[in-house]
Amino acid sequence: MCAASVVLLFLFLSSITSAAAEETNSHISLSSSLTPINNPSWFSSSGTFAFGFYHTPNGYAVCISFSSYLDRSSTVVWTANTEDPIVPNNVVLLLTEGGLVLQNSVSKETLSKIGNSSQPIAGASMLDNGNFVLLNSRGSVVWQTIDHLTNSLLPGHRLSPGAQLLSHASETDLKKGFFRLKMQTDGNLVLYDSDSLDVSEDAYYASRTDGRGNNISLNLESDGHLYLFDGTSIVMNITMGGNPASGVLYLVRIDADGIFRVYNRSLQRQDDWRSIWSVTEDRCLPKGLCGINSYCRYKDGNAADCRCLPGYDPIGSVVWGAGCTAKLVVDCSDKDQSSKFMMTRIQNVTWEDNYYSVLDGSSEQGCEEACLKDCSCHVALFRDGQCRKQKLPLRYGRWLKVEDVAFVRVSKSSTGSSWPLRHKRRHFDLHVILGVSSGTVGLLILSFVIIYSTRRRRRWRKEDKLKMEKFLLKHQSLAPKRYSCKQLKKITKCFRDELGRGAFGIVYKGKLSDGQLVAVKVLKESHDNAEEFINEVVSISRTSHVNIVNLLGFCYHRNKRALLYEFMPNKSLDKFICKGGSTLEWKILYEVAVGVARGLEYLHRGCNTRIVHFDIKPQNILLDQDFCPKISDFGLAKLCMKKQSAISMLGTRGTVGYIAPEVFSRNFGVASHKSDVYSYGIMLLHMVGSKYVEMVSDIYFWDKVYERVLMQNERVDDLVTEEEEESARKMLMVGFWCIQTSPMERPSISKAVEMLEGKLQSIHIPPRPFLLSSPPPQISSFISCNCRCAKLDSNSHPTPCSCLVANIKTNG
Ligand SMILES: *[C@@H]1O[C@H](CO)[C@@H](O)[C@H](O)[C@H]1NC(C)=O
Ligand SMILES: *[C@@H]1O[C@H](CO)[C@@H](O)[C@H](O)[C@H]1NC(C)=O
Ligand SMILES: *[C@@H]1O[C@H](CO)[C@@H](O)[C@H](O)[C@H]1NC(C)=O
Ligand SMILES: *[C@@H]1O[C@H](CO)[C@@H](O)[C@H](O)[C@H]1NC(C)=O
Ligand SMILES: *[C@@H]1O[C@H](CO)[C@@H](O)[C@H](O)[C@H]1NC(C)=O
Repeated sequence: MCAASVVLLFLFLSSITSAAAEETNSHISLSSSLTPINNPSWFSSSGTFAFGFYHTPNGYAVCISFSSYLDRSSTVVWTANTEDPIVPNNVVLLLTEGGLVLQNSVSKETLSKIGNSSQPIAGASMLDNGNFVLLNSRGSVVWQTIDHLTNSLLPGHRLSPGAQLLSHASETDLKKGFFRLKMQTDGNLVLYDSDSLDVSEDAYYASRTDGRGNNISLNLESDGHLYLFDGTSIVMNITMGGNPASGVLYLVRIDADGIFRVYNRSLQRQDDWRSIWSVTEDRCLPKGLCGINSYCRYKDGNAADCRCLPGYDPIGSVVWGAGCTAKLVVDCSDKDQSSKFMMTRIQNVTWEDNYYSVLDGSSEQGCEEACLKDCSCHVALFRDGQCRKQKLPLRYGRWLKVEDVAFVRVSKSSTGSSWPLRHKRRHFDLHVILGVSSGTVGLLILSFVIIYSTRRRRRWRKEDKLKMEKFLLKHQSLAPKRYSCKQLKKITKCFRDELGRGAFGIVYKGKLSDGQLVAVKVLKESHDNAEEFINEVVSISRTSHVNIVNLLGFCYHRNKRALLYEFMPNKSLDKFICKGGSTLEWKILYEVAVGVARGLEYLHRGCNTRIVHFDIKPQNILLDQDFCPKISDFGLAKLCMKKQSAISMLGTRGTVGYIAPEVFSRNFGVASHKSDVYSYGIMLLHMVGSKYVEMVSDIYFWDKVYERVLMQNERVDDLVTEEEEESARKMLMVGFWCIQTSPMERPSISKAVEMLEGKLQSIHIPPRPFLLSSPPPQISSFISCNCRCAKLDSNSHPTPCSCLVANIKTNG
């Protein structure tokens, strides 16, 4: 008995000492440093993991990997800065009080920082479970890599609600790739095309556990058990585990091919990872694996291969998955399309169902002919007696045994054209991508900017007409009344009373036969904005809200288009706020602010259709006799039912100043409902500013307001009541919140309503918006590109990159 306790005591003591040894072994003290070649890594105590410089074919990256003493590449489980992981060779990684900094080894200039904390750092450690931590002086963790997972999940770690894993661009390129695994806050675990928003059209796997709580996380245990857990119970078992836990390593990863897998390996270093579970065996399932105008097909068993549509060639011969293009110059004035083009029939290929026109009751042959005749039809899909005409680009193509037959427009003369690529290798495979340098991609992007940034004029095509007729038929009961040109003349007394003019056309006052006053917006005769017109009619007729202008009718006849709205005696908000020295009382300004926010909230949260307006500005806020605001002018509005909000803003006519930065440049985020929030914020500020004449002339006006009112708590206005002061202050605070540069930091419009109507004390002070920092930044002209996501602008050109060149002057 006594001997047994001695043994126990011994075991106890030895476990303590080994734990202490572990700590000291892996503890990294301040001023420790790493360099890529001579001293690349810090190891965990057992030597399983290494943190530091990792050699890739493109250069060094800062990573955590399974350490490898043998001369072969080890597996990376975490990467610093996935947007741009490659660092120069002449750097040093130094642990300082301010964090882990990457410096130029000669100039000592700081290039980037890994890990941030408000507390001073006193040490760091590469733990044996694969977590790299920064510690404060008390030894507590202040930053850790498991809070910023990249492509892998290790045993004992979890992917928390809202977090995601990102695939690498390829097996050897550690940059952010084309796929992501998101643990959504709604409880669903979803795989998406990495450029997409979280919309179901772009998803290719979902655990279907949404609605099971908002604290569901993905967890991996050391026996290989992978499951969704809500904090108290298991929501779903993905793999059952129960495998040996000692001597075996497990790893969950979203691979470069978009498939999410569980791997195991023995501790023996020469052993290799083996996939023991994978979300699918279908290698063509990941959406976006093959780029636009191509499709995925199996090759040799189940390896995925991307192939171009007939007549199309890879964009860049080596970029796997970059998609395909054809040099088809379709001249719409040419009545005889069949002299230049023909249709090629393909079978068993499908892609995203995104037709612009559908012909019912057609035959296969009829479908082929209809597409050939229609200069904007590039591909027609014949399915169940329906002919679905589509424009480029096509997304998510894949080979599947289906009944569908597709017809692809190809050039008859392509053999004699200056496009000899037809004879080149048509398909390109997974292995080729591994050697691609990012420089090639950059060049490609640039050439596409040049080739495709000129937008073609859009005509009032037959399809637009068809679309309109179809819409009218479908929404007979809901659609606004249609008026003829003759009736319009009568209503407006031959267009006598002009109310206003804009870029779009002229607004006239009119009177219906029942005596109701109307505003008639006659659009400029143009071939360009057919789509906008339809958008406007469709968008507004689906809405009904006190803060949204009521569409009473429309006129549509060839190029003549007009919209009839209820008449607003007080015209638009800009008449009151744009000059400075506004006469509107604070109370009215505040009510207008709340009304506009409510109208926007209705648009953004609409139950069957979500609408993003994209052109919120005072000119588009109409005021009725009681100064009740009504949002108007839905020309740019996009219905976001299908594509949510990833929208090409080519040809935008939103108003500079009111346009959110992400609408110009993808660097700031993706255009979305938060872009409306930005415009709304600018408008709120202008409403407050309208009380001051200085707003117009003083370029530092907003800096002063931010400084004095928000920071130093000065009153907004001296002569007003407490209640008015509070409303004005709320408008300012909400305004500053709404114009944050990052869309994520802006509140939703519902939250803005809540803040405006709630207590002033419960609104936090907004960070100083970037655009206010003085001196104002001089943004001259910049180009933004949105590649790979192939935003489906309903343009007849292939637009693999939607680009926008904007000239913005920020001062004066
Ligand atoms: C660290 O950086 C993130 C993102 O840049 C930021 O949200 C967070 O507030 C920072 N944390 C600290 C303690 O500075
Ligand atoms: C959420 O779940 C995690 C475990 O998965 C748990 O630690 C945490 O306490 C839970 N949070 C809440 C708010 O329930
Ligand atoms: C998940 O697996 C565990 C055993 O590993 C089992 O006890 C549990 O009931 C399973 N839960 C579900 C939801 O299947
Ligand atoms: C990996 O897991 C499988 C069962 O899923 C098991 O058969 C195999 O032995 C494991 N590999 C190692 C190296 O333990
Ligand atoms: C398409 O699939 C069917 C089977 O559904 C097959 O009989 C046919 O040969 C396939 N066509 C082509 C062109 O591969």
